Amino acid sequence: MPRFTRIFQPLIRSVLFVSAITMSSVQAADKIDLIIDTDPGADDVVALLLALASPEQLQVRAITTVAGNVRLDKTSRNARLAREWAGREDVPVYAGAPKPLVRTPIYAENIHGQEGVTGVPVHEPAKGLEKANAVNYLVDTLRAAKPGSVTIAMLGPQTNLALALIQAPEITQGIKEVVVMGGAHFNGGNITPVAEFNLYADPHAADVVLKSGVKLTYVPLDVTHKILTSEARLKQIAALGNTAGKLVGDILNEYVKGDMVHYGLPGGPVHDASVIAYLLNPALFSGREVNLVVDTREGPTFGQTIPDWYNTLNQPKNAFWVESGDAQGFFDLLTARLGRLK
Ligand code: BDR
Ligand code: CA
Repeated sequence: MPRFTRIFQPLIRSVLFVSAITMSSVQAADKIDLIIDTDPGADDVVALLLALASPEQLQVRAITTVAGNVRLDKTSRNARLAREWAGREDVPVYAGAPKPLVRTPIYAENIHGQEGVTGVPVHEPAKGLEKANAVNYLVDTLRAAKPGSVTIAMLGPQTNLALALIQAPEITQGIKEVVVMGGAHFNGGNITPVAEFNLYADPHAADVVLKSGVKLTYVPLDVTHKILTSEARLKQIAALGNTAGKLVGDILNEYVKGDMVHYGLPGGPVHDASVIAYLLNPALFSGREVNLVVDTREGPTFGQTIPDWYNTLNQPKNAFWVESGDAQGFFDLLTARLGRLK
């Protein structure tokens, strides 16, 4: 070995070691520390598979479940099924609120089927639920979290987080951002002419979250109705040839039928998966900061979201409202990530 190399070798080794540690801690720091709150739900299952197939970007701490598309026992079973299908039994599932804060419960079995997942058979997964309740889990986790560190992907009614915030308002300290699938503005709602299902199912909860002052991003129907399946896109997913591709192909083929007929669309939206795609690649989406309110009064506008898109009222901005997205980019991302699963 040349003299120069012999003298400097220990130094070079320690420099390489330190930079490897620095690189791995940078990568770890870059990961999104994520809790997914969800009511699976066919599109929720697709969202969960997309998230759980992306461990290099998303550190999924837990999945918390809420009643919404179907009853809580079924949404909790379906979350555990998605975890099993993704081969990610390492991710804990906590069951939360069985009903909304104030209003009477509503479900969406007409869209998601009696079991809450379309197009595929369901079974009782081997791994069960965690013992703790999701609301307590949120309180404990967000209280103990590093300031502004935890992101919440909100894929159903916002009941769990609202209950946690009512019980312990100081938990906002741990939250980096809440990314909500919900709301509708430019083209109307999907459960009433003006309201979107997740907001209509528990508008009081959404109001609590809005008023808590946490950083909020809304991924509403405005954008999800622009990111539609097509025969070619579904064929590409099925052509992956793995179990995940077959499952998602079968789920979506059935799930999109209702929306295609109802709205006269050429394909169907995969709402909740857009939230995960937004976290994985925000450049696929665009929107603007708005003042946002939700109507909690009984009547025809119950559950309506009102984003002040043109800043007409000149009120403080409290949410980022996503308005459009790159549909092909979304499906390319979804297909590539599903291809990683078994
Ligand atoms: C939202 O409502 C639910 O039915 C879907 O899972 C999605 O979260 C779309 O309006
Ligand atoms: Ca959902």
